[in-house]
Amino acid sequence: MDSILVTGGNRLEGVIPISGAKNATLPLMIASLLTDEELVLENVPHLADVESLIRILTNHGVDYHVHGKRRGNNGKSGRTIAFRAKEIVDTTAPYELVSRMRASFWVIGPLLARMHHAKVSLPGGCAIGTRPVDLFISSLEAMGAKIKVEGGYAVADAPDGLHGAHFKFPKVSVGATHVAMMAATLAHGTTVLENAAREPEVVDLANCLIAMGAKITGAGTSTINITGVERLHGATHRVLPDRIETGTYAMAVAMTGGDVLLKGAEAPLLQNALDALSEAGVEIEERNDGIRVSRNSETLKSVDVTTEPFPGFPTDLQAQFMALMTQAEGDTHITETIFENRFMHVQELARLGADISLEGQTATVHGGRPLKGATVMATDLRASVSLVIAGLVADGETRINRVYHLDRGFENLEQKLSACGAKVERVSN
Ligand code: EPZ
Repeated sequence: MDSILVTGGNRLEGVIPISGAKNATLPLMIASLLTDEELVLENVPHLADVESLIRILTNHGVDYHVHGKRRGNNGKSGRTIAFRAKEIVDTTAPYELVSRMRASFWVIGPLLARMHHAKVSLPGGCAIGTRPVDLFISSLEAMGAKIKVEGGYAVADAPDGLHGAHFKFPKVSVGATHVAMMAATLAHGTTVLENAAREPEVVDLANCLIAMGAKITGAGTSTINITGVERLHGATHRVLPDRIETGTYAMAVAMTGGDVLLKGAEAPLLQNALDALSEAGVEIEERNDGIRVSRNSETLKSVDVTTEPFPGFPTDLQAQFMALMTQAEGDTHITETIFENRFMHVQELARLGADISLEGQTATVHGGRPLKGATVMATDLRASVSLVIAGLVADGETRINRVYHLDRGFENLEQKLSACGAKVERVSN
């Protein structure tokens, strides 16, 4: 299995192109199940999670076609992929495929809406908490589905199709919002989703569904209205830039010092995290072509953060921010409110010399301790990249094992960092 070797000490200078968002791409690909016409997605990142989802979709009968290199594209940036679910031949999403990635469970919404039946294995994914599916089930049941959980599968039926419903999510869930919104596009009548997730990826999915003929208003607010239509048609949609990748590289630059343009990044997608960086003493400049991040000051200030649904500080940047705060002056309090077990990076950061104490859902980082390279590993994607960020300033060599987690969510990570002067390489063990 491959490892990433990071040798600390270099500042980052240059340009990092920001890829299409993983967490928008996945639901957009799943939306292709809603129509028998072609859905063309542009700016699809090269990621292991995209490949896993392709396997799931092709098992349902979806054809896909990857467009070749085009003029002006070096072949390394996002691809254009056309998906066509002309006929859905299998409404089962089996354990072997779904267990690798939680988002694959989301096929339940489109399958149920279009085929009136779905049998989907309960999900797997990163080990960051229990991650139940009750909100998916209760929102689809409100639309008339009958759902049983048996033998590790959710088996859903709506023989006469789904109907519109007024449903208030008891807790904000990105995935359950995606699924209920997709399912409602083909339901009879109007659905109102209250306490819906407001994440930019929900808005991106809604925009694509609207281009496919869906009637949706309110995406990006906590109340989404969807009036069902008879059928959806094909469309072409460009995936929005990855706000978590943007924030990750912004924190890497904040960590090492230097000056980097995050090309194609959009500040409003992660304003809260950018504000935290500004408060820490990092220069953030919003430009037409992206976000320029620089830090020349010697000291980083500690900034307390609490993760929250959008527009709050994202849980997917919590680990990276913690790595950064190990180098800030004084104590930083980082509170995780979304997932109950998303602190696995704490003990790995400690191997590098960080001093972090944990109490309940709050980590206190006692900053200002120098880090020293070591062998580390992490069991989730964002935790893994936090170790890369820490490695960029650690003295000597940091070896990060279990690199497949990074490959799930970061396109060309080593190339992007190396191009800005970091010493990062992939080695086979
Ligand atoms: C999405 O996961 C993202 N994944 C996650 O990113 C992200 O951390 C998360 O949203 C929160 O922003 C994708 O978009 C593919 P949730 P999701 O449902 O939809 C609880 C990454 O690193 N919940 O919003 O699975 C749940 O346990 C990943 O890219 C229920 O209780 O997250 C959690 O505590 C990791 N019942 C909270 O809601 C349910 O039925 C929010 O989870 C569903 C969720």
